[in-house]
Amino acid sequence: MPSLFDPYDLSGLRLPNRVVMAPMTRARSIDTIPQEHAAIYYAQRAGAGLIITESTQVSVQGRGYLCTPGIHTAEQIAGWRRITDAVHSAGGRIFVQLWHVGRASHTSLQEFGRAPVSAVAVAAADTLVQAYDAEGKPAQVPASTPAALDIAGIQRVVDDFLSAARNAMAAGFDGVEIHAGNGYLFEQFINGALNTRDDRYGGGSIDNRLRLLLETVDVVAEAIGKERVGVRVSPFARLNDLHAFSGEEDTWLALAKALSQRHLAYVHVSHLGTSDFHQAFRGAYRGTLIMAGGFTAETAGQALEAGQIDLAVFGRPFIANPDLVERMRHGWPLAEAEREAFYGAGMRGYIDYPPFLVDERVAA
Ligand SMILES: Cc1cc2nc3c(=O)[nH]c(=O)nc-3n(C[C@H](O)[C@H](O)[C@H](O)COP(=O)(O)O)c2cc1C
Repeated sequence: MPSLFDPYDLSGLRLPNRVVMAPMTRARSIDTIPQEHAAIYYAQRAGAGLIITESTQVSVQGRGYLCTPGIHTAEQIAGWRRITDAVHSAGGRIFVQLWHVGRASHTSLQEFGRAPVSAVAVAAADTLVQAYDAEGKPAQVPASTPAALDIAGIQRVVDDFLSAARNAMAAGFDGVEIHAGNGYLFEQFINGALNTRDDRYGGGSIDNRLRLLLETVDVVAEAIGKERVGVRVSPFARLNDLHAFSGEEDTWLALAKALSQRHLAYVHVSHLGTSDFHQAFRGAYRGTLIMAGGFTAETAGQALEAGQIDLAVFGRPFIANPDLVERMRHGWPLAEAEREAFYGAGMRGYIDYPPFLVDERVAA
């Protein structure tokens, strides 16, 4: 019976345990460049079997929020190099989550104030993004109406992911996770209710709606090695104004099968609906399946033992517990993260959570 604390062979990368740190946007980059404090933050959490970084945009076009990092300029790559070096020196392993927000963006974040892009020119209703208001001040503003990508634009997106994956290797990452969940660009193409394109990237055909993601996965895998590529999806999560569509289960299961054939490092799900659907997805995807969403040491251990997942992904618990693996291993109590400091808020609630033993020593 595998336990959370057993090692795992992730396509040749040896993980000392099966606890993964979830990708979490913390919005503390300056001018899209990840800072020295992020090196401290991630190195503090190097006890994770694997760290997946916060969402990181592959291009200016892919950006949807202030203070998130990119991986498309020399300065950003240099910033990430400090972080991967710090994590590796602390004994950890780290993948970068590659991100394009699609229509979840605002003209004030785009080059020359252009419209953001998506599968179709339909704005995400009731969706706020962190950008600039009419006076140029940072503010929560409604997502702008996007332009539909033409074929040349789609090719540029694929190329941007390819460059970003190469940059990730130059920055010293162990691999990349392609973010195809949470209602961002890839899911905007996958969703049959939104994507009504009439070309080979959309419409009623499942293959068409999966094409952008699979073409991206293929070029990235070809460039950096399939064993270094993970993909994250969030079926039925309904984020960023995406809704139910006909053939939804079949779409996700077709994706699971297609990814299975590609022998990637892993598929990461943050939401899988019912247990029947989980079982069907697990059956369709034969590789390493990792999952996030409300795990405790106990429930994660049960999911591992039941063979539902291969690695357990923890998000919020890692914010306030840099030594989460050790705390769970010893049954030590967990600290609670301060929600107000999830995003932005400087160093408070970021690099100031001590490991348990230090806490105890201070208390003694
Ligand atoms: C502050 C915060 C930021 C997040 N940012 C991202 C992100 O950048 N990319 C992503 O795929 N998921 C993101 N998520 C979702 C987490 O990866 C994870 O799925 C979620 O927190 C559920 O796991 P948990 O219950 O262990 O926290 C974020 C969650 C939180 C709390």
